Amino acid sequence: MVQIRNVNKSYGSNHVVKNLSLDVYEGEFLTILGSSGCGKTTTLRMVAGFEQPTSGEILVQGENIANKEPYERDVNTVFQSYALFPHMTVFDSVAYGLKMKKVPKKEIHTRVLEMLELVQLGGFEKRMPAQLSGGQKQRVAIARALINHPKVLLLDEPLGALDLKLRKQMQLELKRLQQKLNITFLYVTHDQEEALSMSDRIAVMHDGALEQVGKPKEIYEAPQSKFVATFIGETNLFEGVVRGLRDHLVSIAVESGTILGSGEGFAENEMIAVSVRPERMQYSLTPVEGFTIEGIVKEQVYVGSVLKSIIVLQNGYEVKLERLAGEMLPINGTVYPYWEPKDARLIHPRDQEFFSAVENVKMA
Ligand SMILES: Nc1ncnc2c1ncn2[C@@H]1O[C@H](COP(=O)(O)OP(=O)(O)O)[C@@H](O)[C@H]1O
Ligand SMILES: [Mg+2]
Repeated sequence: MVQIRNVNKSYGSNHVVKNLSLDVYEGEFLTILGSSGCGKTTTLRMVAGFEQPTSGEILVQGENIANKEPYERDVNTVFQSYALFPHMTVFDSVAYGLKMKKVPKKEIHTRVLEMLELVQLGGFEKRMPAQLSGGQKQRVAIARALINHPKVLLLDEPLGALDLKLRKQMQLELKRLQQKLNITFLYVTHDQEEALSMSDRIAVMHDGALEQVGKPKEIYEAPQSKFVATFIGETNLFEGVVRGLRDHLVSIAVESGTILGSGEGFAENEMIAVSVRPERMQYSLTPVEGFTIEGIVKEQVYVGSVLKSIIVLQNGYEVKLERLAGEMLPINGTVYPYWEPKDARLIHPRDQEFFSAVENVKMA
């Protein structure tokens, strides 16, 4: 449905989108996830045709969007600021696009009422924007964008201005609408939980470039870069050097000792990052074969049914451990963190910052 091919965008010397390539499939809910300033809005504005790429091209259904007038495009956008006309009723706001297209009055009436029903605003036709809550205004903006039956809907942090409870509710509603109408959604957010819960696929963006594209489960369970591992959810990240390889077992020297992972395609002395999610982390009161890291239990807290603990290693690194509540760890006692080697994600790092961090381990 949307093909973004080797797109670059610079504002003067500021290179804000870097060689970005991404395909969005028909009927898909794809989210671009990244922190503020990484180039998400710029990317979306280029897909909408509001901005031109410095190089590269963007196709919607095989056609270059740049060659079409805005009203010819099958793409609509919903922004964080709903930008409703203050003097227009809900009905007129939603009807606006159809009036411009000279759709017969009777058909407009039917379609607007249907659409308002769909976004759960039945009965709100005569209200003015000032008489609506934030969530209701955003629903009007969504109805207004959907009524033209766009092939692609672009949504730029559309729930960003809503409070947490309403945001959660709207997340579910948006997902339901998208499935019901079978419209391709290209969604932008900096909220990883939102991305994980709504998307068919997530494209993680960092500093203008794509880091990883995949299903939520793949992004969470098999991050391919240090950035993705730390940006999505909580993790324990170790940086080190491969010291031994036996079958699928990889022994890794890190600053605080030796740890195990499992995987293929690694070489001795190769620098490597190891990501272990808190819920995969285990501990023992006696050393475990293959692991030589040890630490002191610093704190534990109950969060509902989950027990979260922190173990401080000898080099000061804080290991996060999360278990379904059960036996408590010995506070201030010595424990040996470990994990099933298959539960560790081994990452070939790409960034320079990483290489300098591991230099001292390599020297040791
Ligand atoms: N019209 C513009 N002129 C100059 N710089 C811009 C313009 N729009 C965005 N930028 C810069 O591009 C970078 C990415 O911005 P943006 O795409 O809005 O990020 P995000 O939406 O991920 O927060 C920022 O450094 C921003 O200052
Ligand atoms: Mg933005």
